[in-house]
Amino acid sequence: MPKITYIEHSGDAHVVEANAGLTVMDAAVKNNVPGIDADCGGACACATCHVYVEPAWLTKVGGRTAMEESMLEFAEGVEENSRLSCQIRIVDALDGLVVRLPQSQH
Ligand code: FES
Repeated sequence: MPKITYIEHSGDAHVVEANAGLTVMDAAVKNNVPGIDADCGGACACATCHVYVEPAWLTKVGGRTAMEESMLEFAEGVEENSRLSCQIRIVDALDGLVVRLPQSQH
């Protein structure tokens, strides 16, 4: 199972083993990772699942969807590597993925 590491703004890291097919948001919620509220349940409609993808993983993770782009306009502290974690589907190639959580989410 792919391992995903979530690093809170405080620096606390949570390593989660996730089934391929889930989203990065699903895996966080299932494992009680703090800071990913996912208020809309993954419908790309709340931006409370905002994460920063570690630069080394950006290409493997792929680009934002158009809907995600427009939702990120409502998120705080958006950077080049910002993604909505409900829009990142976990595949085996993402084993080792590292994402960081924004300061506004804790
Ligand atoms: Fe709401 Fe991702 S869970 S936008």
